[in-house]
Amino acid sequence: MSKVHIIDHPLIQHKLTHLRKEETGPKEFRELANEIATLMAYEVTRDLPLEDVTIKTPVMETTAKVIAGKKLAVVPILRAGLGMVDGIFNLIPAAKVGHIGLYRDPETLEPVEYYCKMPTDIESRELIVVDPMLATGGSAAAAIQFVKDRGAESIKFMCLVAAPEGVKKLQAAHPDVEIYTAALDDKLNDHAYIEPGLGDAGDRLFGTK
Ligand code: PRP
Ligand code: URA
Repeated sequence: MSKVHIIDHPLIQHKLTHLRKEETGPKEFRELANEIATLMAYEVTRDLPLEDVTIKTPVMETTAKVIAGKKLAVVPILRAGLGMVDGIFNLIPAAKVGHIGLYRDPETLEPVEYYCKMPTDIESRELIVVDPMLATGGSAAAAIQFVKDRGAESIKFMCLVAAPEGVKKLQAAHPDVEIYTAALDDKLNDHAYIEPGLGDAGDRLFGTK
């Protein structure tokens, strides 16, 4: 079973509270989502391998650490995942970005795919699949299957708010994928919205209804 990391640093909890508030408009919502994504990226990358290199300081030659191993790619699930990419770029500016277009059919609640463009070398990259919301888990599970089918082997999933139902589904579908969330909420309501949640993340990011 994959591990669930709840990244509940006080700064993240504070920003998430403002993100949840009904009165928070799109401009502030975008800023907060990206700020939380930056703070979370710090923890999501905590286990990156390091290697020694020799450098010369103004004082002497020494060995020091640099990041080794696989390069990263960020994979936002469109649309709402886009709201976390700039925040991750703040820490990992050289990351490549793959896009997966999925929306949740409001009737069936099943994810429907409409776009995919991945870096050509995803099999040799560590992927961070991002979406603010993990509700039923259908979109995340489908997106991750999508990148696995295209060769990705090393994948993490990062969201802002998760429902227990979505965590369970994602863990069952992809036990190799660790889940990073800023909050684990109570449950889904009858429309499969997360409670207390923050509403429709895509609509709030982009000012649509
Ligand atoms: C939202 C959200 C996730 C999905 C979560 O996207 O951003 O992708 O729903 O629900 P699930 O876990 O039950 O699949 P939505 O389908 O509203 O599309 P959007 O990002 O284009 O707004
Ligand atoms: N998608 C959202 O944007 N919010 C939810 O609560 C559930 C799915």
